[in-house]
Amino acid sequence: MLDIQHLRVVYGITEVLRDVTFDVPQGSIVALLGGNGSGKTTMLNTLTGMVKPAAGSIRFEGIECAGLPAKGFVQRGIVQVPQGREVWPSMSVHENLELGAVTRKDWPGIRSDMEEMFEIFPKLKPHQRKRAGALSGGEQQMVAIGRALMARPKCLLMDEPSAGLAPAIVSDMVDTILALNRRGLTILLVEQNIGVAAAVAEYAHILQNGEIAFSGAAAGLVDNPAVLGAYLGR
Ligand SMILES: Nc1ncnc2c1ncn2[C@@H]1O[C@H](COP(=O)(O)OP(=O)(O)O)[C@@H](O)[C@H]1O
Ligand SMILES: [Mg+2]
Repeated sequence: MLDIQHLRVVYGITEVLRDVTFDVPQGSIVALLGGNGSGKTTMLNTLTGMVKPAAGSIRFEGIECAGLPAKGFVQRGIVQVPQGREVWPSMSVHENLELGAVTRKDWPGIRSDMEEMFEIFPKLKPHQRKRAGALSGGEQQMVAIGRALMARPKCLLMDEPSAGLAPAIVSDMVDTILALNRRGLTILLVEQNIGVAAAVAEYAHILQNGEIAFSGAAAGLVDNPAVLGAYLGR
């Protein structure tokens, strides 16, 4: 569905992604792992048009998207949940979710999707009118995911959704990711938490210094000390 080939991204004179090739099959969950600074966020920013690649191709449903403006990626159905959640703290939960629908004009659809968000995330319902900044980290992550879903993505890019959450909340996040996938959403999951990646993804790719250093079954990662030691520093 999302087919990335020979992607290269350069900041100034620094090559941040080199010759990155992998694909995200329709209906799958694919994990992209790697230590701090390995290029994971840059990868997602490039897949949503926030960063322009210096070379390479990003095909989505067979159509070349590299070079499109960010809005073009959202309209085709690729939407990112940013690292660190980035909810608007002084706006309400409801307003944050509405912001996810800015590129849409189908008002009845927006209204029914809004109802659906509170079915997917029932814990948010009583907090609808509260400032998003007053919610817990886990609840803010739900707002960030809900905001992305309001754009009606086909492919969701998640940037370290488990970061900074307590273990019990991380386990809820795993359930949420699996539930979204069961609803038909294709997911590219960036994580540093290998347990989360192994619990949800079929395939995993490890980025090291902007290059794919390992690709394979995600389930095998947790008991592959060589992989973990070499590429993730554990
Ligand atoms: N806007 C930017 N300008 C210059 N360098 C950047 C910028 N954003 C990230 N970098 C650098 O690119 C590399 C990859 O960063 P990033 O994609 O954020 O990695 P990760 O998400 O894996 O931690 C790092 O060396 C980082 O310092
Ligand atoms: Mg990052």
